[in-house]
Amino acid sequence: MSDRKVYTDYFFDEPAFNTHDGGYVPLKEPTTPQEALRIPKLLKPNKETDTDMYYTVIAQTGETQLLPGAKTKTWGYNTSLLGQTIVFKNGKTIHITLKNELPELTTFHWHGLNVDGPITDGGCHAPVYPGKSTQIEFKCHQPAATLWLHAHPCPATAEHVWKGLADGVIVKDDVESKLPFPRNYGVDDIPLILQDRAFHDNQFDYIADYDPDGVQGPTPMINGTINPYFDVTTQRLRLRILDGANRREWRLHFSDDLKFTQIASDGGILPEPVDFTHLMITCAERAEIIVDFGKYKPGDEVTLYSDDVPIVRFRIHEFAKDDTKLPDHLVDIPDPQVTPNSQVHKVVMSGMDEMVEINGKKFDMQRIDDKQKLGNVEYWDISNTNDRDTGMIHPYHMHGTQFRVVSRNGHDPYPNERGLKDTIGVNPGETVRIKVWFEHLGVYMYHCHIIEHEDGGMMAQFEVYDPDRPKTYKLMDMDTLMTAFAKERGVKKDELYIPGMDM
Ligand code: C2O
Ligand code: CU
Ligand code: CU
Repeated sequence: MSDRKVYTDYFFDEPAFNTHDGGYVPLKEPTTPQEALRIPKLLKPNKETDTDMYYTVIAQTGETQLLPGAKTKTWGYNTSLLGQTIVFKNGKTIHITLKNELPELTTFHWHGLNVDGPITDGGCHAPVYPGKSTQIEFKCHQPAATLWLHAHPCPATAEHVWKGLADGVIVKDDVESKLPFPRNYGVDDIPLILQDRAFHDNQFDYIADYDPDGVQGPTPMINGTINPYFDVTTQRLRLRILDGANRREWRLHFSDDLKFTQIASDGGILPEPVDFTHLMITCAERAEIIVDFGKYKPGDEVTLYSDDVPIVRFRIHEFAKDDTKLPDHLVDIPDPQVTPNSQVHKVVMSGMDEMVEINGKKFDMQRIDDKQKLGNVEYWDISNTNDRDTGMIHPYHMHGTQFRVVSRNGHDPYPNERGLKDTIGVNPGETVRIKVWFEHLGVYMYHCHIIEHEDGGMMAQFEVYDPDRPKTYKLMDMDTLMTAFAKERGVKKDELYIPGMDM
């Protein structure tokens, strides 16, 4: 046993995070039979050399057996639901063919990846129309991490993700590969994509379940599995947890208050491992944890809960003894000095429901709201003006960067926020200061990652510029997107209804 401190609450005072708006839907334990947890396959590169990797990523429709009876109509990447896990190796040049086999336009956003904006980044300016494909190319230049790919066609992002367009991405490097972590994919290193859904005669019905504060369902869906179990065959298990829900935060804990250790956050390995019995994760955040089942024996079952609802059951089998200890220091995290005399950017997230805004404005695809010079390191102060008693946590996300968390309301960040992050839960009444720098030029989005808030306008754009290399960007406009959606959905433009579109 190490003598590290073990954190036993979610870091949030209960009143703030347990008070949800009226529409909050609690999870319910499924009554369907337990199913083996789906483990997404690894996407096979078309080709890999010492320096380059080539992939084809296809957004497609399909059907998935989620519940007994009729299959559910779903969307996915290279599979019917969610996707095949994509591996990038740091230092290699990545070439990806993006193919859209859906009946409507979509985009391919690489959440957490440091690449040029806005096209490679894949936000709303980079639609791929149905039946079409496009190429992107970038150099992978960032530490090992768990990132993700999701659709981002504003204002239909939430609906596309709800239908299944979310996929795990793993960056590998030779720092991580030398650390004593489990890394046998599918055996002791597994993705855990946490989502929730509602079913209507075994189907998803996004419009029926629409809520401007975020669509939720009572049924946990983990890696696209309802009521999953996982067969544990190693003493230590690494879980790459992604909150892939449209709006739900997860409050995770195991049976017997089993201790677990977080080793990585959004942007990669933490400087030091952090031990928990309870961990909360908000939309789009990632937490890699190692669970040690050393005190259990074959036949035992250890349950992972969110609130008090079982979400995965770990069935313990024979395993070889593995008492590997983690070092107290894992990696060094860059912490560049803030550029002298640079501005402090302000991001005020306000409102709930249809009233959500950033700095008093709704999103406009053609407006650039803020700028930062390439190479500068600047503070961004992110506030949530919601009421402490009735407001919501807004998970704030920036494209194009992995930032450092400096403080929460002037206090130290949480112990698992000392690594690189791209998303951070900002509690009602709180201001979080982050330190931000960029390595690529482009126009990027920043927004609340409750996806309905983002679609509903709690989103803005910044430009990373270099005065020596001025660039102009042709930004997509809403009219072009709406005309395309209307045509693809076979309706007149004034009959088109995408929740969030005219907020
Ligand atoms: Cu997960 Cu705008 O992103
Ligand atoms: Cu993103
Ligand atoms: Cu929000």
